[in-house]
Amino acid sequence: MTAASELYPGFISLDEAFDLTEEQVKDMQLKHMNEYRTKLGLAGGLTFDIKRAEGCYIWDADGNKRLDFIGCVGVYLLGHNNPFIVENVRKYLATKPLTMDPLALKPITAAFAHNMALVTPELTRTIVNGGGGAEAVEAVLKLVRIAAGRHHPERKRIVSTLNSFHGKTLGAVSAGGKDVWRRWQPVIADHAYVPYGDLDAVEAEFKKGNVIAFIAETIQGEGGVVVPPEDYFPTIRRLCDEYGVYMIMDEVQAGSCRTGYVWAHQYYEGLVPDAFTFAKGMSDGVLPVSGIQVKDSLYQEAYGSYDSAMMHTATYQDNNISAAVALSSLQYMIEHDVAGQVREKSKYIFAKLEQIHQKYPDVIAEIRGRGFMIGLKFGVDADGVGYANRVAAVMAQKYYVHTMTSTNDDTILRVYPNITTTEADFDWFIDAFDKAIRDVIGSAAPAES
Ligand SMILES: Cc1ncc(COP(=O)(O)O)c(C=O)c1O
Repeated sequence: MTAASELYPGFISLDEAFDLTEEQVKDMQLKHMNEYRTKLGLAGGLTFDIKRAEGCYIWDADGNKRLDFIGCVGVYLLGHNNPFIVENVRKYLATKPLTMDPLALKPITAAFAHNMALVTPELTRTIVNGGGGAEAVEAVLKLVRIAAGRHHPERKRIVSTLNSFHGKTLGAVSAGGKDVWRRWQPVIADHAYVPYGDLDAVEAEFKKGNVIAFIAETIQGEGGVVVPPEDYFPTIRRLCDEYGVYMIMDEVQAGSCRTGYVWAHQYYEGLVPDAFTFAKGMSDGVLPVSGIQVKDSLYQEAYGSYDSAMMHTATYQDNNISAAVALSSLQYMIEHDVAGQVREKSKYIFAKLEQIHQKYPDVIAEIRGRGFMIGLKFGVDADGVGYANRVAAVMAQKYYVHTMTSTNDDTILRVYPNITTTEADFDWFIDAFDKAIRDVIGSAAPAES
C-alpha cells in the first residue's frame, strides 16, 4: 500500500484531521467549501472551534466549557453523544452488518417501523431516509402527489403557510412560505400559500377545489418560533376531512419530544394528521436520520401496488444504520419519559425568562414557544437595529452560552435546551442572558416603548 499522502502530498488522514488547528480549518473551509457561509458565521462571532461535546456542553480548542442552548436548532434533544445511542451504534457496527442493500431484508428498519406503529397506532407506515428534514418533506409531498395522481387526478394543488420553512430541496422550497429560498429556481407549480394561523384563508383555498394536501409546521421554527391559535390545527383537521384534503404536519423541528409531546401534534388531544415528518431529534446528531410516518390508507393510495412501489426509492432509503439511531432515540425517549421531562423542566426556564422580560420590557417584546422550543422576540434600538444578533454574539463570546437567531427572522433569538440540562445550567443561561442584554443596551439607546 502506498500512503495517500505520498501519492497526493498534503493528503490529510482522519487521525490528522482530528488535530487540525482552527486556522487550518478556516482556511480549508474558505478555499474548498461554502466560502460565504463560512464568512457569515465568522463575521457573526458565533463560529468556534469545538473539540468535544457531551450532554449540554461543548468545549472549544482553548478548553472553555460552553453551554449549548441551540443544539443544531433542535437536533440534540437527548444530549450530545447520548451514551445509549452511541453505544447502540457501536453495537450495531460490531455485528459486521449489511447496512445498505436494496433487496436484502432490513431487520433494524423493520423493527423501527414496527415500533413507530406501536407509538403512533393510527399511522402505521414508515419511510426512513439517511438524509435530512428536506428529504422527509420531499418524500411526503411526492407521496401525496402520487396518491392524488392515481386516485383523485382532479386534485392538483398543495396549500402551505406563509413564513413556513420546510427545507431547501426543490419540493421543499416550493412548499415553503418564503420567496427568498425560491430565487433562481423553477419552482414546482400548484402551490398556494396562506397566512399561518388564518383559518378563513385555508377554507377559502379549499373551497376553490382541487387541493391535494395542506402542509404546515406544528410550530413554525425557522419563521421565528410562531405558535398558532389553539383552535387552528383542530379546525384544519375538520376542514381537511370536509374537503377531502390530506393533512401533513412537518415535525422536523417541533417533533421528537422537543415541545413536550413525542409528536408535537399530540398537544392537541385526539388530533391525527394523515402524515408527519420527523428528523432532527430522532437522530440526536449521531447520524443523519429523517423520515415520514403515514396512515396506511394514504400510503396504499400512493405505493400500494407493484407499478408504483418503486416510485420513491433511494440508495440510502430504509438503511439499517439510520434506523438503528432512530430506534435508539425512540427507545430512549420512551424509557426516560423525555416528553414529560421537557414539559416539567421547561416550566422553570419560562418562569425565569418571564422575570427577564419584566426587567427589560423595551428590549424583549415577547417570549414564545412550547417545551424546549423557545423564541425570544426582541425589539429594536433607537437606530432601528434589532438586539437579537448582538445579544447572541455577546452571550457566546463573553459568557459561553450558545443560542441562535432565526434565519427567517433575526429579531428572534432561539433557545433550544436539551434534556440533560439542570437548573444550574438554566441559571447559567439566565445570568448570561441578563448580562448580555445589559452589555448590549449599554452600547445602544433603547427605543421608546
Ligand atoms: C420544519 C422543518 N422542516 C424541514 C426542515 C429541513 O430540514 P434539513 O435542514 O435537515 O433539510 C427544517 C430545518 O430546519 C425544519 O425546521
